[in-house]
Amino acid sequence: MSRHTPVMTVMVAAVRKAARGLQRDFGEVENLQVSLKGPGDFVSAADKKAEKILFDELAKARPGYGFLMEEGGKVEGADKSHRWIIDPLDGTTNFLHGIPHFAISVGLERDGQMVAGVIYNPITDEMYIAEKGQGAFLNDRRLRVAVRRELTQCVVGCGTPHIGRPGHEKYISELRGVMLNVSGVRRMGAASLDLAYVAAGRFDAYWEANLQPWDMAAGIVLVREAGGTVSDIDGRDDMLASGGVIVGNEMVHAQLSKVLKAARQAG
Ligand code: IPD
Ligand code: CA
Ligand code: CA
Repeated sequence: MSRHTPVMTVMVAAVRKAARGLQRDFGEVENLQVSLKGPGDFVSAADKKAEKILFDELAKARPGYGFLMEEGGKVEGADKSHRWIIDPLDGTTNFLHGIPHFAISVGLERDGQMVAGVIYNPITDEMYIAEKGQGAFLNDRRLRVAVRRELTQCVVGCGTPHIGRPGHEKYISELRGVMLNVSGVRRMGAASLDLAYVAAGRFDAYWEANLQPWDMAAGIVLVREAGGTVSDIDGRDDMLASGGVIVGNEMVHAQLSKVLKAARQAG
């Protein structure tokens, strides 16, 4: 069993390098909160700097692989099988507000399948890694999804649409349905970490709609390798294209899917 195959070594090194800048910049955000201009432009510069480091490191280590990045968009590679899917700073709103819950997320896609993922919170120093067939790990600890069998006993993560985003009415219906059937709902503000938390058994389940591929690419591998079930909102394996995701152990995933469907139908 190798947690650090050559490609995982490359991913972890690139992520650690990019994280050093984010750590420094997060410290600076606290000073900027009190300035009139606020930290907005500074944060978007931090985001771009982190992405550039990831791009440079990964392109150097694996020349020819393609890229899909939140800031830089698509970069075609000579190797049509492989593509890095990158969110250099997931949880931007948290970062901007000095809330220490954000991550770098890097996924590797091979022939349309997610095969490796790294999600790193530089503040808590939690490094989540997974590779297809190799298991999922938090630092050196093997991860398994939680074993609760009843949705009513579960803590369920979610993402709320905010100003400028679609799906508010649908979300309110879904949330109403879920609240009536679970032990707790959490909205933490970084989709990649929500998925990592399910892999780690901290959340029993999680759902969100209208995500981008880079929000969930790495997390999909983590949850699957931790023994969890992953689907889009309609139960299909089309998360990256549809933007929707539901995750949990097999039983809880089925119960949550049912509750969400009924809630949408009820309006
Ligand atoms: C956002 C976070 C958030 C989710 C949003 C994403 P960003 O990513 O993952 O939890 O609810 O849909 O856009 O903008 O912080 O990279
Ligand atoms: Ca981002
Ligand atoms: Ca994101």
